[in-house]
Formats: sequence, C-alpha cells, structure tokens
Amino acid sequence: MTKILMVCLGNICRSPLAEGILRSKLSDKFIVDSAGTGGWHAGELPDKRSIEIAKKKGLDITSQRARKFTTKDFSEFDLIYAMDNSNLKDILQLAPNENAKKKVHLILNEIHPNENKDVPDPYYGLNDGFEKVYNMLDECCDVIAKKMMI
Ligand code: 4NP
Repeated sequence: MTKILMVCLGNICRSPLAEGILRSKLSDKFIVDSAGTGGWHAGELPDKRSIEIAKKKGLDITSQRARKFTTKDFSEFDLIYAMDNSNLKDILQLAPNENAKKKVHLILNEIHPNENKDVPDPYYGLNDGFEKVYNMLDECCDVIAKKMMI
C-alpha cells in the first residue's frame, strides 16, 4: 500500500484538488490524503471555488476536511508533495531525519524537473486561477500515476 500526501498552506484550495485528482487516477491500492502547513482552516470543507472547478471536471471533493500537517505524517506517508517552495521549507523544518526529508518533493518538478516552480496560490486571486491550478495539478498527477503503475 503506497501512501501519498499532498500539502499546501491552508489545505482548502490546492492540496484538496491534488488529492482528488490523484485519487481519481489511482486504484484503491493507494492512499491519497492532503494537509496544510497552517491549521487555520482545520475541519473546514475545501474552498467553494475548488469544489466548483473539481465538480466541473467531474470530481467530488466535498468529503474532504482540512487538517494540519504534523511530524507523524513523515512516518504515515511514503511520498509527500509540496505545492510551493514555502510549503516545502515548512515541511522540511519538521522532518525528524534525512529519510523523512527524502520523501518530500515539489509537485511541479514532476512536469518541470529541477525547475522548482510553485503552484500559485489561487486563494486571493480571480476564479480562473483555480482552473489554471487544476490543469497544472492534473498534468502532475498524470505523471505521478504513470510512475506508480510501473
Ligand atoms: P491553499 O490556499 O494553501 O492552496 O489552501 C490558501 C488558503 C487559505 C489561506 C492561504 C492560502 N489563508 O491564508 O487563509
């Protein structure tokens, strides 16, 4: 059983989309979850704009609830994907050892290797930011899913 965790700041915009998209591409032999480096939105539904774009693309993400990333996640999960460099830094600061650090990757490096790009935070932006983020994450998750099937 491979366990994959998607992480952003609030766990209401980007990582819930990444969770829903990747889960839709993998069998139930995989566990996909998401969390936020910040806990302000813990217990909340994904942002309504994420719910809306997911629905438009055929995914229901309304069973998800936000939660805060914890050090326990390093032992729970095999792979941890950060949405941006700030998330990456915050996650790595909590890593208990080198093995834990090796589990953490920037998600956009899956489609732009070694470029260390950020998935832009759409929270304060216009609605089309959510569609752009969705499409980026969809491409990344295609690559991740293909790797998992090998
Ligand atoms: P996310 O977006 O990290 O993609 O979930 C954000 C959601 C909420 C906040 C920031 C980013 N916030 O400051 O409350």
